Amino acid sequence: MATRLGVGPSSIPMKIETGKEMIRVGVIGYGYWGPNVVRNFHGQEQSKVVAVCDQNRNCQRRAHQAYPSVRLMEDSKDLLTATDIDVVAVVTPVWTHYELAKTALENGKHVFVEKPFTCTTAQAEELIELAERNHLKIMVDHTFLFTGAVTRIRQLIDDGTLGDLYYYDSTRVNLGLFQHDVNVIWDLAPHDLSIMDYLIKEKPEAVVATGEQHLNGVADVAFITLYYPNNIIGHINVNWLSPVKVRTTLIGGEKKMLVWNDLEADEKLKIYDKGVQMSSGEGMYQLLVSYRSGDMWSPKVEQVEALKAEAAYFVDCILNNKTPFNDGAAGLHVVKMLEAADESLKQKGKIIQL
Ligand SMILES: NC(=O)c1ccc[n+]([C@@H]2O[C@H](COP(=O)([O-])OP(=O)(O)OC[C@H]3O[C@@H](n4cnc5c(N)ncnc54)[C@H](O)[C@@H]3O)[C@@H](O)[C@H]2O)c1
Repeated sequence: MATRLGVGPSSIPMKIETGKEMIRVGVIGYGYWGPNVVRNFHGQEQSKVVAVCDQNRNCQRRAHQAYPSVRLMEDSKDLLTATDIDVVAVVTPVWTHYELAKTALENGKHVFVEKPFTCTTAQAEELIELAERNHLKIMVDHTFLFTGAVTRIRQLIDDGTLGDLYYYDSTRVNLGLFQHDVNVIWDLAPHDLSIMDYLIKEKPEAVVATGEQHLNGVADVAFITLYYPNNIIGHINVNWLSPVKVRTTLIGGEKKMLVWNDLEADEKLKIYDKGVQMSSGEGMYQLLVSYRSGDMWSPKVEQVEALKAEAAYFVDCILNNKTPFNDGAAGLHVVKMLEAADESLKQKGKIIQL
């Protein structure tokens, strides 16, 4: 690997005793999600966290207690320019992602960026171009794509169990956690948007979003509809003002219908052999409707820590020069849909073409 800035990674992954390469990770942001990212990159066979940076003293203290041997930094510049770091993980609020990721890429680091990738499509495009120019990898943390449930749903779609898709309808609501810099769409919808991109082969053509703000000047309740080719429709309900936490997705297919309740410990997925068939009756306008109501079964879902699988996959992509499926382009597409949803929200549900 070349070491000059602009032509490749700034560092050559360290070799460990087994002869295997070790990817050294620096994590910026040790707030709510950062500790999970640190734990999962630190626990891999071929990666370890060598530095954690957070502006906040309490966060630094927590990181030091958990990882006494890991270097602590207050200024992100120190981490972004360190020569013994191969990957920078950006686990800070979304408005900081672009600057931090850009500086990391300029300093020859691969980048693991939290969702949503950036605040604008222009920023995402610039980062993708910069990474390509410098032969570096970007992974956007679309954690749900690595869960046992989403992996199994993808299989059930790919092997034709559900048949042609009719709709994806998700409810992702709870009380809090209120964000100051983004509305509820940018906070919660990236999960569903990335899952829909992963599960549905078609790309959405238009977005409609409605919502309302009640407390701190950003929308805290929102409803997003996505129109796809072949009459597939997607709907996402996101809400920070719900008295109960709900994480339920319905996926309707021509052959089977699926319910994914992510809060269920065991039977997260349920497949219903239910459907509707229409056929013409005697008269021209007479339609015969028949309902099919067969068995319900719950397919086995692998119990994996999604972030652990994702961290291992990123390390593998770097060591074996593979492009992750949740790369910058995947992050960009989610940002495009978020921007369109915001535009529609501002115009009280105007349809926005993608
Ligand atoms: N993938 C997931 O499921 C998931 C879950 C939660 C949050 N997230 C994402 O993770 C990111 C962080 O969210 P959070 O809830 O942990 O936020 P948070 O506010 O709890 O933590 C962010 C931390 O970053 C630090 N920070 C901010 N700017 C910094 C800088 N320039 N240098 C050093 N430290 C800096 C802050 O001090 C804070 O401790 C967001 O993008 C969010 O969308 C992803």
